[in-house]
Amino acid sequence: DKLRHVDSMTTLPSRAGKIPKLNALILGEALASEEDHLIIPSQDFSEQAHVSSPAEYLEMYRRSIEDPAGFWSDFASQFYWKEKWGQTVYSENLDIRKGSINIEWFKGGITNICYNCLDANIAAGHGEKIAIYWEGNEPGVDATLTYKQLLQRVCQLANYLRDVGVKKGDAVLIYLPMLMELPIAMLACARIGAVHSVVFAGFSSESLAQRIIDCKPKIVITCNAVQRGSKTIYLKDIVDAAIAESVRNETAVDICLTYENVSALKKESTKWVEGRDTWWQDVIPKYSDTCDLEWVDAEDPLFLLYTSGSTGKPKGVLHTTGGYMVYTATTFKFAFDYKPSDVYWCTADCGWITGHSYVTYGPLLNGATVIVFEGAPNYPDPGRCWEIVDKYKVSIFYTAPTLVRSLMREGNEHVTRYSRKSLRVLGSVGEPINPSAWRWFFNLVGDSRCPISDTWWQTETGGFMITPLPGAWPQKPGSATFPFFGIQPVVVDEKGKEIEGECSGYLCVKSSWPGAFRTLYGDHERYETTYFSAFPGYYFSGDGCNRDKDGYIWLTGRVDDVINVSGHRIGTAEVESALVSHPQCAEAAVVGVEHEVKGQGIYAFVTLVEGVPYSDDLRKSLIMTVRKQIGAFAAPDKIHWAPGLPKTRSGKIMRRILRKIASKQLDELGDISTLADPGVVEELISLADS
Ligand code: WTA
Repeated sequence: DKLRHVDSMTTLPSRAGKIPKLNALILGEALASEEDHLIIPSQDFSEQAHVSSPAEYLEMYRRSIEDPAGFWSDFASQFYWKEKWGQTVYSENLDIRKGSINIEWFKGGITNICYNCLDANIAAGHGEKIAIYWEGNEPGVDATLTYKQLLQRVCQLANYLRDVGVKKGDAVLIYLPMLMELPIAMLACARIGAVHSVVFAGFSSESLAQRIIDCKPKIVITCNAVQRGSKTIYLKDIVDAAIAESVRNETAVDICLTYENVSALKKESTKWVEGRDTWWQDVIPKYSDTCDLEWVDAEDPLFLLYTSGSTGKPKGVLHTTGGYMVYTATTFKFAFDYKPSDVYWCTADCGWITGHSYVTYGPLLNGATVIVFEGAPNYPDPGRCWEIVDKYKVSIFYTAPTLVRSLMREGNEHVTRYSRKSLRVLGSVGEPINPSAWRWFFNLVGDSRCPISDTWWQTETGGFMITPLPGAWPQKPGSATFPFFGIQPVVVDEKGKEIEGECSGYLCVKSSWPGAFRTLYGDHERYETTYFSAFPGYYFSGDGCNRDKDGYIWLTGRVDDVINVSGHRIGTAEVESALVSHPQCAEAAVVGVEHEVKGQGIYAFVTLVEGVPYSDDLRKSLIMTVRKQIGAFAAPDKIHWAPGLPKTRSGKIMRRILRKIASKQLDELGDISTLADPGVVEELISLADS
């Protein structure tokens, strides 16, 4: 047996909590009436699945709630632990009224996630299996790494990092596009106990600087440039500017390791700071391709990932090692019904949580073959995804609704000219998937054969929270269905009271799960107030949801000031603060508005400095400011000139009214008499198209 199994299991008394009523289990009756709307997995699929029926799910789910310690210890025992965790499998306090919020899983257990991703799979005889198929931006440019080769590459980088002084607990900032070097860098950090902080390579230099200043990395890892579609993006220039900005804020970065991404640019034309900058290719190959592991505690930090909240400053979500490892591996296996023969492709970038949990860790922990795609899904044409699916015989394809919708518009022939017959399971993440996109994805892409796992989760949750198990559940297009094992979602009303049965309300979670984030880096108080104070006793997700009479959960989107643009989380406050930094902008209010492809678009109301005239140039320059400060993906779709904003007498902006104006629901403005100046509403409406 490849792994040294933990000998005995420790169990704790079960947590108080009842099994949610899943009416859907009474399939014959409750659901029969809705047969038309239900998509039932084929018998063939269900029979071969890890979980084949609602009843089987319920049995496992019940145990996961009644005996979480035993349930999760069983899964944890499938990994290698140098030392087993202590008597207490987990400890938690999610109730702010009882003191500080605290979550720990497998404390005292000593392990290494890189070991479990790579060495353990090699020891089990899978060294020659392909770990990564890398597909470049240009069709025909590709590469592969077996598990053994991946380990060698990880070790070389890990040795280098140690050599330049990176130690356990140090932060390493990674600003790379989807090259193989991105997961390699993450795993190299994990191998030596360093804490990686990957910043999506679409963020601007100012956003990057903000993150550097917050986590103070020993080293920044980047590449000279990348080609995405027909565009070349000079990442090293962005890093140079970010480091310069950090230095002005008393945060020095000693080393900038730069990968020469040959397909993009010649070395000679890259600006260079002697003494600070090093070419990856010049140094890394010289290091040994074996590297000792740093064994870490289950509760030692694994990574930081910045995400947007309802206030301006991004939050450094901190995940630790052991629980995250067990949770991402288990969710990956069950939600995608993963089998060793699968070829798996998740289109997310490793700069977001989806790329952390379900490009890198979850799949590799399972010994999966993963596609890493550098390019854009519609380049050189809208058939690229299906070309890749056929090329590598992808069997599990996981993407975002925004991509589904954008491809839907391009016409079916881009899909049907490829066979796609390798596909078995589809997945969706990032935002609610509208039923029409769901159906197109299911019927056309998956030839009505592949169940869709619509996975609801968040950067904070580390892994899937609410998701179909593809062989178990009849699906309803657009519903994320039921909780994963160990998750107790509750729907609460405004007062934080749990609502039962068919309802709509705020989605919270009661009790912890192994993959939960443990804190916000350097700001535990903000962690407690943001997530645990709104509804004391629960983790509050920030999302609204409905639960139907069969117990299916339907996400309805964010209820806070976060918008979800093409599955990217953006705080309205971040966009507003970028806008008001423009010298001619006096005030700005940003709301999300429904967008056909992106899910939500960014709609900005802008009040100009007294006397400045409206112009298209100014509009462009405002948009440029946002691109520069946050990144192109946060550029407003609409700038709406606003001589004044609707405010209460105490000066609070009434976003509810702005949302209605933005979505042109003018008959739903509601009571505007409480505004300090109700006249501004009329004025705003008249300027909608100017
Ligand atoms: C939204 C991405 C509906 C939700 C993994 C959440 C979803 C936010 C779904 C987290 C889904 C994610 N259905 N909404 N399947 N998945 N969301 O942190 O609003 O980038 O709060 O994590 O995305 O975004 P994040």
